[in-house]
Parts: sequence; C-alpha cells; structure tokens
Amino acid sequence: MHLPRELQRRFHEVIRQHVDDPEQYSGMIRPTNDPKFGDYQCNAAMPLAKKIGGTNPRDLATKMVDALSVGDLCESPEVAGPGFINLKIRDSWILDRVAQMTQDDRCGVAAADQPRKVIIDFSSPNVAKPMHVGHIRSTVIGDALARVLNFLGHYTITDNHLGDWGTQFGIIIFGYKNFGDPDTVAKNPVPELAKLYRLVNQISEYQKACNQLPVAKQSVDDAQNLIDELTGKIEAAGDDAKAVKSLKKNLSAAKKRLQSARDSVAAMNAKMDAVQTNEDLLKISQQYPDIAQRCLSETAKLHEGDQENLDLWTKFLPYCRDEIDRIYDRLDVQFDHTLGESFYHDRLPGVVDQLSRDGIAAESEGAICVFLDQFDAPMIIRKKDGAFLYATTDLATLQYRREEFAPDEILYVVDTRQSEHFDKLFAVARRMGMEDVRLVHVNFGTVLGADGRPLKTRSGTLIGLESLLDDAVARAQAVVCDPERLQRMDPPMTADEQQSVAETVGIGAIKFADLSHHRTSDYQFNLDKMVALDGNTATYIQYSYARTQSILRRSEMDEEAVVALASKTELVFSQPQERALALRLLQFEEALVSVYDDYAPNQLTDYLFETARAYAVFNDTCPVLKAETDQMRATRLVLVVLCGRLLRKGLELLGIGVAARM
Ligand code: ARG
Repeated sequence: MHLPRELQRRFHEVIRQHVDDPEQYSGMIRPTNDPKFGDYQCNAAMPLAKKIGGTNPRDLATKMVDALSVGDLCESPEVAGPGFINLKIRDSWILDRVAQMTQDDRCGVAAADQPRKVIIDFSSPNVAKPMHVGHIRSTVIGDALARVLNFLGHYTITDNHLGDWGTQFGIIIFGYKNFGDPDTVAKNPVPELAKLYRLVNQISEYQKACNQLPVAKQSVDDAQNLIDELTGKIEAAGDDAKAVKSLKKNLSAAKKRLQSARDSVAAMNAKMDAVQTNEDLLKISQQYPDIAQRCLSETAKLHEGDQENLDLWTKFLPYCRDEIDRIYDRLDVQFDHTLGESFYHDRLPGVVDQLSRDGIAAESEGAICVFLDQFDAPMIIRKKDGAFLYATTDLATLQYRREEFAPDEILYVVDTRQSEHFDKLFAVARRMGMEDVRLVHVNFGTVLGADGRPLKTRSGTLIGLESLLDDAVARAQAVVCDPERLQRMDPPMTADEQQSVAETVGIGAIKFADLSHHRTSDYQFNLDKMVALDGNTATYIQYSYARTQSILRRSEMDEEAVVALASKTELVFSQPQERALALRLLQFEEALVSVYDDYAPNQLTDYLFETARAYAVFNDTCPVLKAETDQMRATRLVLVVLCGRLLRKGLELLGIGVAARM
C-alpha cells in the first residue's frame, strides 16, 4: 500500500476536470510537518490556480475538496492558509490496513505492475589484491538495491564485474617469477600471493614517489607563495569588503590546496622511508629500477596469450576468488553472475572494429578513439601499442548484456571518481543506438577516517576489509555482551549465542552505517558510533526488534496466533502513540519505492530508524500485556508483531540480520 499514490489517484480525478496534464499537480502530496495539520497535505491548488487563471487558490482548494472522493480514507479534508489541503487518515482505515498487512506475506507491499529487468553491476573489485575498505560501499549498496528491487517485484540480475585481467595480475605474476617460492605458494597460496602483491606494489609505489616528490614539493611551495600573496592583498584591500571577500575565498581554496599538497608529500615521504630503511627492499628496488614497467609487460604478455603467464593466471585466479568469496559469505552477499573483465577479452577487437566500421571511432595519433562533443578528451578504446582499455571492456560488457539479457536498465554501483568514465561510456552507448536501455551510474562517495581524509592505516595503505569486519564484531561483542547486560538475560546467553549475536550486530553496524548516509556523500568511519545501542544504527533497530520478540515471548503467543487474533478482533486505537506507530508501519512501501526512485538505500534506513523510534515511544506509553481491555491488548500485540516483522524485513532488504534477543 502506497498511501500518497492512493491519494494521488483520488486527486487526479478532480484535477483532471481542470487541466489536461493532471499528473504534475496530483503528485504534489507530502506528509505534513506537524500532526496538527493532519497526516498528508496536497499543495496543488496554488500552482493549479495560477495555471487556470482567474481564480484564487483558496477557492479552488475548496472546490477541489468538494469534488474529492476520499471519504473512505480520510476525515473531511481541510483547507488551510493560501490553499493547502490537509488530510487526516481515518483511524478505521489505518486499522483495517494494519490488519491486512498482518495477514500478508509481502507486508502489504504491492508488486510492481510494470516489472523492470534491471542488471546491477556491483562490488566488482580488482582481485589479486586483498579487498579493502573502498570495496565496502559498492558491495553493500549494490546488494541492498538488488534486494529492494527484487522485493518490489522487479527482475534483477546481479553481476560482479571482477577486475580479473588487469595490471594487478601483472604484479603478482612478476612477483611470483622473481621472488616467489613455488612450494610456499602452493602450500599457502592466498597469503603468499598477497605478500608478493604487497612487496612488488610497495617497491613500485616507492619508485613512483621518488619520481614525483620534486613536483609535489614544488606544489607545496607554490601554494605557500600564493597564500602569502593573497594575505598581503587582503591587508592592502583594507575596507573594500567586496574585494576582501573574494580574496578570502581564494585564500581558503589555497589553504586547502596547501593541505592536500602537504598530505601528498607526507605520504610520499612515508613510502620512501619505509623502503630506504630496509636494506632488502632497497636492494630489490635497485635491481629492478622500473618495476612498474616490468609488471605492465607481464600483463601485456598475458593479454597476448603468452602460455606461461596464462598458466599462472589460470592457477592464481581461483585462489583470488576463494579469498573474496570468503568475505562475500561473511557479508551474506551473492551474485547471479561473476563475469569478470577476462570474460570479455576475446570480444575487444570486435568492439573496436565495429565502432570503426560504423564511423563512431577514428584513429588519432595511432590510437583508436571515440570523440565526443561534450568532452575535452576522447574515449580511447585501443592504445597505440594495441592494448585495450577499461572502457573497451565496458563497451563489450554492455553489448553482451544487451544481447544476453535485454535489460530495461543497468545500474553501475561505482565510486564517484569514475563519473567521467561512465559519462563517456553512456554517451558512446547512445551513439551506438542503445537508447532502449536506461544506464545509471549509481555513484558513491568516500569512506573517511577520523581526520576527515580517506580511511587509511597508519602506514598509508587502505584498510583491509576483513580486519575491519573483525574489529566491528569485537566492538559489537563489547557492547551487546557486556556483563551487566548479560546478567539480565534469562535464560543466560550461551557463548555460541553471544558470538552469533556479535557477528550479526557487528556486520550489520558496518553495513547500516554505510547505507544510512546518502550514497553520494562521504562519511566518517566511526566504529563506536556504528555499534551504539541508541542513535541511527543497525544496533538500535536490531535491539528494537528484539524488544518486540521479547513481548511476544512473554505473551506466550507466536506470530501466527497474533495474526489470527487480528482477524477475529476489531482493533481500536486508545492512544495517539499507537496511531503514530501504525501510520509509520503503513509507510513501508513508500520507503521502498523511494529507495528505487533515487537508488538510495538511506531512504529505507531512515524509515527503519523512524519506525524504531515510534516503537520506542509506543513502548514507553502503551503497556501491551497489561493493557486495560482485551481489545486494547489485541491491538497492541498486532502492532508489536507487525512492527517486528517490518523491522526484520527492512533490515533483511539491507542485507542485515536480526537476533531474537540481545
Ligand atoms: N574493477 C573496477 C574498479 O575496481 C570497478 C568496475 C565497475 N564496473 C564496471 N562495469 N566498470 O575500479
């Protein structure tokens, strides 16, 4: 049940009598900010009066109300202010819906009447190096979108577009050939390959830092000079407020630039120190002065079909897959397909040929490029040396997906930093005539540390995903299994139960924190906040769920018995807190639909948080088991059961579990 849509339908009928394009007016229904104005508000009369002309909005609103048929759903609508129409949903209607939702497996959520076929490309890490904190967002957001869309009745196809064919394989192949010991790797492949990756990468980063340090230092000096210059100018500008304002703006930009230039220098120095203070590393670096180039040639040989490298790749890939699969298991994330970049390798020449034949791509300085009006730089699809690029693979992937799945929509859940890549990709797709599929870059921001910069370890590397999960579980254990809380548990929690609750709460905390920020904003990673028992956290919602279950246990009825009770009893509100909770419960579908509208799972986390809060208020004011009458007790039990179910379902759609007690 989508209440605003139902109201829209009713308003549509009325507005139709005034204009030919009723949709844009009937859509103007919003929840009210203040319950004293009712539950929903229609704001259409003002723009509508303007459009029709010759009538004042208040009069028009009154006329609309007269013609409106909502008697079954609302109390008599009221016109307020310049022409707002305030709507208060009838208690009886809310209670009927609550009873119906309780009977329904889908919790009253209608299945889409026009189901769409949606491919969701998410997670997609570059394997051969350990997954790090940067991978959490795509994985968690993509999984939540897939779950929600599916539940809304759409047909989803999830695809993990693994980076299994790129430079990182050149790195481990190079590492293995030069520093690897076949026996050690065979015995303990995953950590050994990771070690080799880190070793070669460290040397490569070191050499890069050595080369770039002078330029980075120059940027620090430049920024400092600019700051001095601007500071002088500000002093000289004296009372000229306008000039001062604009200079100060430049000054603050320059200060930011100085900070980030200093950060880069510091990062480079750290990388250099680490190698220069280690004789072995230094020796390796001297032995392979251009290690990055050597790795690139190993990658190139792999792509050209060199047998030795192909054999190594074939041998290593399953280890890398095992490694990430372990994390997916722990996160409870599955994919319908895992078609990595390697899958498309053979198709790349064909894509380039086709685009050239169709006159979409052209040669430029030896490379094959697609020139796009809206962009300064072209999209290169084959380099001068014959190598194909990330973009070429994405074009091949797009072609394959269209042919194989004929989707209505493809979502790419990828970091905002790749926006330009996707803008170009979509522009080329349009040139290729792929107008029939909606392509969306579901972009997201960065995970920041306490210092407000991208989350890194002290030595400047990205934090491994696995250790992050371990930390969260440990922190969750400390919070939910603290001895004082445990003391109150009857029967006591076994060690196994504690472990399992900690895992559910810890992993849930990380996922929820990520999902609860709008995906396009950066957020600060703060484990203590994430596992807090109060606040906008999974823990709070899981705890609220556990409270519903505890009441249910004490009532000595199971969910089914309460559902049966709902169908036999006439439900009744006796407190406003019951109504407030019930109305929230009715808004479940609204929340899910808005997740899809903006590809924004935070719409659902917000909804769950508000629902849990309404439940807490209800809990504080409305005794359930000791309710004054049977009817009140039945109504409250139904609210408790339905609330518990929605919290559980809502969390499940975010990929988060619950515990029956905590
Ligand atoms: N492997 C890429 C990376 O780690 C992300 C791939 C996203 N999907 C895609 N179709 N380009 O940056």
